[in-house]
Amino acid sequence: MQTALPVPESLPILNDLEQFESRSMHGQMPVVWDRAEDFQVFDRWGNTWIDYTSTIFVANAGHANPRIVKALREVIDHGLLHTYSYATEIRAKFLRRLIEVTPEQFDKAYLMSSGTEATEAVVKLMRMNGQRRGKRRLGIMSFEGAYHGRTQGAAMIGGTAAGRTWIGFEDPNVHQVPFPYTWSLKNGETGRDRFNAHLDLLRGKGLDLAKDLCGFMFEAYIGWAAAFIPTDYVQAAAEFAKANGILLGFDEVQGGFGRTGKMFVHEHYGVEPDLIATGKGISSSLPLSAVLGRKELLDLPDVGSMSSTHSANPLVCAAGLANLDEIVSRDLCGAAARMGRIMLDRLRAIQAKYPDRISHVIGEGMLAALIFKKPGSDEPDGLTASLICQRAMHKGVLLVHTGRESIKFGPPLTMPEDVMNEGMDVLEESIEEIIAEQAVAA
Ligand SMILES: Cc1ncc(COP(=O)(O)O)c(C=O)c1O
Repeated sequence: MQTALPVPESLPILNDLEQFESRSMHGQMPVVWDRAEDFQVFDRWGNTWIDYTSTIFVANAGHANPRIVKALREVIDHGLLHTYSYATEIRAKFLRRLIEVTPEQFDKAYLMSSGTEATEAVVKLMRMNGQRRGKRRLGIMSFEGAYHGRTQGAAMIGGTAAGRTWIGFEDPNVHQVPFPYTWSLKNGETGRDRFNAHLDLLRGKGLDLAKDLCGFMFEAYIGWAAAFIPTDYVQAAAEFAKANGILLGFDEVQGGFGRTGKMFVHEHYGVEPDLIATGKGISSSLPLSAVLGRKELLDLPDVGSMSSTHSANPLVCAAGLANLDEIVSRDLCGAAARMGRIMLDRLRAIQAKYPDRISHVIGEGMLAALIFKKPGSDEPDGLTASLICQRAMHKGVLLVHTGRESIKFGPPLTMPEDVMNEGMDVLEESIEEIIAEQAVAA
């Protein structure tokens, strides 16, 4: 670090954002990003950070990946910046490649700009399919506390009732069940048992599941904690879905495109979903998202009835295509799995030093979380997590600050081992300092 933070010269920029932008966009570390390259972020005043955020799980192929930048330059120099849904060669090329490199059951995609649109589109397709099959009601089962995006439809399947009061009503056909945290399974209860208990909950609400449910919409892992669903829960859900004409959908917006060491998170569960919502790492850069599924599902909406002005823009398609080429040719899924093991080992060693403060370490590939608790209790400790993120920022490491009791780690999949270890050293030092300072203050 070359300066104090926030950098005094950066204050006019931070103040303008404070004055002219909705505060809902704020709350991040006071770093003014000037440039980002591969796994590093730079400001204008000589400071450099090792990046464990990938902005927010986007830059899977590294920030300003040269192949992506070159592809974007070619489109710009060629002179086609926007096309709506008029045909372009770059869109055709991207879609062909996307279908080629993703699991076999997906034969079509629908492109959009944001993850929230993609999750809403999955719900729409589930319900259209339910109508086609003559379901009595268009019920979706989803997880309480899951995050599917900020628009109204996405908010209605995710989060909690308290977070939806602004909507003014609940969707009677959304049935949220508590997220089945692995650590909540006790006394021999399996994930399969928990799934059956969730079905009983729904039956208890008067649902005839085969007639009233058209889809299971699962966040592939619960975002705030990077907590995975128990595998046998998912497998039981897949079996039940298949037997009862219910579609299995995963929100892969955060975990897709190599993040967890496989192209998609659902591959860890050994199931074949009917539909997935993707975004973020699909381009490693520009706004792009997609729903993938079988032809018969993706073709349910009529011609022209599922499209968007800015989706499938030539620039985002070029970024998406170059990103896929990069992920496949450099085997970034394999790199994420390998480097993720090193990250997880380091995090486990840190937890072993502070078992009274870190209740859980979760990780798969280049995705991990530490969950903090207050000493001598199981009470969540969001303050300590925030203080550690701030301290790490001062020492040149950017972590995902969740605002809750978790710190998340989502570095570009390109991060090399020496940098990973340097970042983990800084994290360890930051935790040590904050915990020691708290002990002195107590
Ligand atoms: C799992 C998941 N679903 C959906 C979204 C929403 O994506 P977007 O912010 O692109 O609308 C996010 C974003 O963080 C996410 O993590």
